[in-house]
Amino acid sequence: MIKHASQIALADDSSPLAAADVIPADDEHIAPAPRISVQAFCETVETAAAVQAASEDRRLYKTHVKIQMGGLATAIEAYRSSPTPNVIVIESDNRGEEVLAGLDQLAEVCDAGTRVVVIGRINDVTLYRELTKRGVSEYLIAPVNTLDVVRAVCGLFVAPDAKPVGRILAVVGAKGGVGASTVAHNVAFAIARDLALDAVVTDLDLAFGTAGLDYNQDPPQGIADAVFSPDRIDTAFVDRLLSKCTDNLSLLAAPATLDRVYDFGADAFDAILDSLRNSIPCVVLDLPHQWSGWTKRLMTSADDILVVASPDLANLRNAKNLVDLLRTARPNDRPPYYCLNQVGIPKRPEISPADFAKALEDPPLAVIPFEPQMFGTAANNGQMIAEVSAGHKTAEMFLQLAQVLTGRAEAKRPRAGMLSPLLSKLMRRS
Ligand SMILES: Nc1ncnc2c1ncn2[C@@H]1O[C@H](COP(=O)(O)OP(=O)(O)OP(=O)(O)O)[C@@H](O)[C@H]1O
Ligand SMILES: [Mg+2]
Repeated sequence: MIKHASQIALADDSSPLAAADVIPADDEHIAPAPRISVQAFCETVETAAAVQAASEDRRLYKTHVKIQMGGLATAIEAYRSSPTPNVIVIESDNRGEEVLAGLDQLAEVCDAGTRVVVIGRINDVTLYRELTKRGVSEYLIAPVNTLDVVRAVCGLFVAPDAKPVGRILAVVGAKGGVGASTVAHNVAFAIARDLALDAVVTDLDLAFGTAGLDYNQDPPQGIADAVFSPDRIDTAFVDRLLSKCTDNLSLLAAPATLDRVYDFGADAFDAILDSLRNSIPCVVLDLPHQWSGWTKRLMTSADDILVVASPDLANLRNAKNLVDLLRTARPNDRPPYYCLNQVGIPKRPEISPADFAKALEDPPLAVIPFEPQMFGTAANNGQMIAEVSAGHKTAEMFLQLAQVLTGRAEAKRPRAGMLSPLLSKLMRRS
């Protein structure tokens, strides 16, 4: 399937183009676009609809997108008297020469620094070369889907030699105390140790967070220093606030003190996450069980979400509400994952994983048993399950979760190879 200009040279003109949206592959990562302005000039309602849907995608949350009908001619007219935005998207149904002539006229009224994305119907290498010569940043072949537009706009702001940016995984409990933080910390530990990916756990339960205790750390600084000094945030500043837990794992700790209250605006953590995303391959957000502007935003803007639920009715209802809301808010993403935890408490009537699967239209990613002795020992010693019970099947579960959530099938350590048949099954479900 041909979507990008860079692929045109290999194009087979008869390739069918899927108009339907596609969820990005596990290994595709589209970094969010910065706070820029985009103006689109569309000739067809289909393209206008794709750009409109793209403007609502989480990766363009910060971007201002304006859409109007009318292609090149309308754009040229519009910019005669007004300044150009950061990005202009132009749809043109015209033949090659007409597109090029129109772009030459547009160039005369275009401010330097404005990038131009063209959506056209002609799949031709010569045209592509001419467009490149004129400084067109991207050429998409219509029909385009939502993600084509998201990918093109976001791609303009990634340096060509930039290493893959960080993925953000948000972990949240369907109810308080279900073990969301425990799961987040153990999964992050496996990501760092077994998959050898640099990871940062961000403890967003500022008043009561336990990441410091769980990793046996008592850092003097952490997330509060960043969120209360928004003007100072850059990679170097955030780096200094991290405390190192293991070779590949760092912690942005919660103060866990009550000397102030922690009420934040919806975008309070945006700058911190942008900064982490630029330098850390995997950021695990340990979210408190709470529904507010900023927790909602962190969930909707994460790359992946893991809802942790224990098997009772309130958890089932809340998990379903969360998953439903997030599915709707993130139509171009994989649905949120969920896992069950603290399963099998003696004498407790429980709702089965099959019933969860039915209600949530998806099987749980893991069913973690209730093991008070092992989890209690780990919590009291400031250790992870893999440290107190290496090789235990629950430790293996955290590793499997880590693998699925990072989209990595192979682990650094040979024993993980044994998990791969199961893993590929798990991954196929997405
Ligand atoms: N599978 C398990 N078996 C036994 N105990 C568990 C299990 N998972 C977590 N726990 C214990 O449950 C308690 C609550 O865990 P945790 O703090 O991770 O929950 P949480 O959902 O993050 O809670 P909060 O709502 O306070 O953020 C901890 O004492 C933890 O050790
Ligand atoms: Mg917690």
